[in-house]
Amino acid sequence: MPIQWFPGHMHAARRKLEETLADVDVLIEVLDARIPAASRNPLLETLRRSRQRPCLKLLNKADLADPARTAEWIAAFEREEGVRALAVCAKNPADVRRILPACERLAPHRSEPTKPLRLMIAGIPNVGKSTLLNALLGRKAAKVGDEPAVTKSVQRYDLPGLRSITDTPGLMWPKIEFDADGYLLAACHAIGRNAVAEEEVAAFLAETLLAQGYADRLTARYRFDPTGMNGDEIVEAIGERRGCRRKGGELDREKAANVLLQDFREGKLGPLTLETPASRAAMIAAHEAAQLVEDDVPQPTSR
Ligand code: G4P
Repeated sequence: MPIQWFPGHMHAARRKLEETLADVDVLIEVLDARIPAASRNPLLETLRRSRQRPCLKLLNKADLADPARTAEWIAAFEREEGVRALAVCAKNPADVRRILPACERLAPHRSEPTKPLRLMIAGIPNVGKSTLLNALLGRKAAKVGDEPAVTKSVQRYDLPGLRSITDTPGLMWPKIEFDADGYLLAACHAIGRNAVAEEEVAAFLAETLLAQGYADRLTARYRFDPTGMNGDEIVEAIGERRGCRRKGGELDREKAANVLLQDFREGKLGPLTLETPASRAAMIAAHEAAQLVEDDVPQPTSR
């Protein structure tokens, strides 16, 4: 089942984002370092480019991501025009201190009495925007929560040294172009629980872990070798190991799925990244090839 999720308030958020971007010098786009491409917002990119605004991409939750892969993504993003990228953990003050100097380098003509540096922080729900904003402000201004879309209104705050930052609501795009992205976002909990079937997400996550070369992490945590298994089989095996049973003794697949998802979300499988620039390119190529085949299939004509 492909995942689509676009709550009504997101339409209003998009309009507000367009207006806000007009008065901003640097866009801070917060991404989830475990899924740096799937957690991008294509709409944000389109608006930013049309306004020709430089962008600092923060690969947040870097503490949960695979450092070698984070470095690959940073190099890939920095090949884009007007883009700088930093890996950060919003809960680490030393990481947070690197953010404002990086923004200043992207807009060296600002930060003067007549031209304060105007920043905007944006990104999809649950990537850590509120945590970062609070850390930048040094106080609790935004509500932090592990449920998507906690922040709802646009608000501007003053920062020390002639700078300001505008907080934007959690944004999601109206259509998730690739089914895989929907699953990756759900695995990382950027999509609300009621929008997705956890069992399908867990099976997709298990297969992705295998495809990304992390079989050893599953073995280390659950004590079985997942090589050659499909996603459903891996989730079942986790359920067996963890004694996830219903009353009659039958395997409780939902509970098994939750064991894997919870462990992944809490970093119990170690630092992991679910896509690389190469796997992303391969996924898109496969999607496009499948689309071509679909277009070639003759459609029945009605008389
Ligand atoms: P949002 O505004 O983009 O929606 O995200 P928010 O700051 O509310 O953060 C969502 C969850 O992600 C929070 O977890 C937050 O603590 C966690 N988080 C944010 N940045 C990082 C990071 O760099 N590393 C890790 N490991 N987690 C991060 P929570 O469980 O709701 O809150 P808490 O119990 O952790 O405070």
